[in-house]
Amino acid sequence: MNAALSQTLIAAEEVSKEFLIPQGMWRRLTGQPRLAVHALNGVSFQINRGETLGIVGESGCGKSTLARCLVRLFDCDDGRVRFEGQDIADLKGADRRAFNRRVQMIFQDPYSSLNPRMRVREILGEALSVHKMRPRAQIPARIAELLDLVRLPSDAADKFPHEFSGGQRQRIGIARALAVEPDVLVADELVSALDVSVQAQVVNLLLQLQEKLHLTVVFVAHDLRLVRHISHRVAVMYLGKIVEIGPTEGLFSSPRHPYTKALLDAAPELDPTKRNRTVAARGELPSPINLPTGCLFNTRCPRAFDRCFVERPLLSDRTPAHRAACHLTDFGAPSLQNLEAIS
Ligand SMILES: Nc1ncnc2c1ncn2[C@@H]1O[C@H](COP(=O)(O)OP(=O)(O)O)[C@@H](O)[C@H]1O
Ligand SMILES: [Mg+2]
Repeated sequence: MNAALSQTLIAAEEVSKEFLIPQGMWRRLTGQPRLAVHALNGVSFQINRGETLGIVGESGCGKSTLARCLVRLFDCDDGRVRFEGQDIADLKGADRRAFNRRVQMIFQDPYSSLNPRMRVREILGEALSVHKMRPRAQIPARIAELLDLVRLPSDAADKFPHEFSGGQRQRIGIARALAVEPDVLVADELVSALDVSVQAQVVNLLLQLQEKLHLTVVFVAHDLRLVRHISHRVAVMYLGKIVEIGPTEGLFSSPRHPYTKALLDAAPELDPTKRNRTVAARGELPSPINLPTGCLFNTRCPRAFDRCFVERPLLSDRTPAHRAACHLTDFGAPSLQNLEAIS
């Protein structure tokens, strides 16, 4: 990787976010403290220019909240997100508008994000004119170019969103995001609602676009199979924290956190005869209102020991490229697979 590509583009630094729960009359009258959902509890990582980072974890672990903090749809309560070194919470005026253009989010549900009364031509035309991307006369040609980029036929321009299939609608969402020539795409469960065969097509398209346009991509999914194919690195989240982050192949072949291992063991096989139905980890995801003390995973971990109930493990610095937050594997950082071989 050359120097330009290895630069950090986005850095999350101890990002925390909570949502206050509407307080009932009884709690208010009795002066009890307000309850909060601790959606993000100190998330730190860096994304290099031109890299795809996959973010996985089961539903409710804070992935969408993190995605929204990265594009500043949410402000963090604590910590910060930096874009090219600048705290995005400080961006104002033209700088903020430039950030809004350069970092685009694509949503899971194209029904709700595409205006049903606008033709594709108008949807893309609007994106082009909001950020004044092209002189008026060049807009039709640019729309044709964008449709070609996402492999939609040129007559798609004259249709309404409802005339397309789910996969095609996601392509329109991608074309709209690309219209403003962003540096970063944040895709939150982009293909989760689509059939498996269509998922692969959209993921492949995104992969090709990433390479062709040198995009930096944050690919959020609860399905490990999807992130493996597209990501250079993967971050695994659990209860609003990253529990493991590393290069995709290393993380899949030698997981260092028991939660990652549980996710891998549970990932359904593409071959239906080999599918197993194991849940991601035994037991339920604890409530993010009352977080466990010590390691957040201790209520479900098959390997938890005394220390795990009193001390929250940090992401280990011993192996900077592939880090896990686990007391068990944080000694010279063997993988869980190796540990199993030893024991
Ligand atoms: N706007 C909100 N108000 C209250 N709670 C929220 C809100 N958004 C998310 N949460 C809660 O924050 C936690 C993390 O949610 P989310 O980021 O959507 O997780 P994921 O995308 O991984 O499923 C969940 O417990 C969810 O219920
Ligand atoms: Mg989500």
